[in-house]
Amino acid sequence: MADVKITARKNGPYRVEGEIDLYYEDRKVDTPAPPFSLCRCGASSKKPFCDGTHSKIGFEAAAEAVPESKEQ
Ligand code: FES
Repeated sequence: MADVKITARKNGPYRVEGEIDLYYEDRKVDTPAPPFSLCRCGASSKKPFCDGTHSKIGFEAAAEAVPESKEQ
């Protein structure tokens, strides 16, 4: 089992639970202590992190982040 869990929230951010190394291009980005959320709507003023703006703008994900799989 992985040490990190990333959950795509419905019409919201990616919730990260566990330590990760996050990079922008080849530069490492400082991350807060987990859990934290990564912006999926593109409107956050604190990218790559979610600042809650998705709720204010009524962000709706275009499709499921992960198609349903019959395998588990
Ligand atoms: S997903 Fe929360 S601000 Fe973008």
